Amino acid sequence: MTELVVRRLLIDLEAPLPRHWCGGDAFRTAFFNALSMSFPVGEQFFIDSVRDGLKVLPPALQEKYKAEVQGFIGQEATHRRIHGLFNGHLEKQGLPNDWAPRIQEKMKMFDGGDVRHRLAVTAANEHFTAILAEWMLANHDRMGDCEPRLKTMWLWHSAEESEHKTTAFDIYRAAGGDEEWRLKWFRRITLFFLSDLLRQTMTNLRQDGTLWRWSTWKSGASYLFGQRGLIRQTYRPWKEYFRADFHPREQDDTLSRNWLRDNAAQYTRVGAAA
Ligand SMILES: [Fe+2]
Ligand SMILES: [Fe+2]
Repeated sequence: MTELVVRRLLIDLEAPLPRHWCGGDAFRTAFFNALSMSFPVGEQFFIDSVRDGLKVLPPALQEKYKAEVQGFIGQEATHRRIHGLFNGHLEKQGLPNDWAPRIQEKMKMFDGGDVRHRLAVTAANEHFTAILAEWMLANHDRMGDCEPRLKTMWLWHSAEESEHKTTAFDIYRAAGGDEEWRLKWFRRITLFFLSDLLRQTMTNLRQDGTLWRWSTWKSGASYLFGQRGLIRQTYRPWKEYFRADFHPREQDDTLSRNWLRDNAAQYTRVGAAA
């Protein structure tokens, strides 16, 4: 069982965002903006799935995971709120969020179904966010001279994603979720996640007027496929999920723990949300 702390981030998200807030780089800004656009609806889905998953466990297991699930819900609810504020600025910049309604449409397929499907989807997404988070913490210098408050927001979110990466997986297993569906949903989520992320990034760039600039594609190629690129460095941890004996706790979380320790002045601890 993991002890999860809910933190309130001490940053100002009222001040408007510069158009290319991520180090003046159009691609990186559009890419992170796309990710953020998916968070509030996605994270609400994770919260509901884990909360409903806990309810179907035998009483002894409910007792075992109750505090951890409360911590998970508290962390994701805080992420959802902060990214909602961030996304409000994107809306004011005229960027259309097409991804969130697509997620909401897809979520309808789970209405009235076995909660283990939602748990498998959540566990798959949590693996994605955990490996992305570890990559971001390891390559935080690649956010360039982005505003410190925004860098803090992304790295805080990353640290907490890494911190709670086992919760949905453990609840899925505790609820009797099997290997076949765990992997089936992981394959599907990989496809949905990457295609939707790419699509929303392109939409953001098109709206920004920077889609067909050479510098945008150069930055994208280096950020995704370069020596320290996202795809290049996360491929191996992504593949680990297919192992029958995989458990997310094996993945090193030193960077997350270090960030939370070194940046304690950037947040207050508020305990677990109900
Ligand atoms: Fe989150
Ligand atoms: Fe998460």
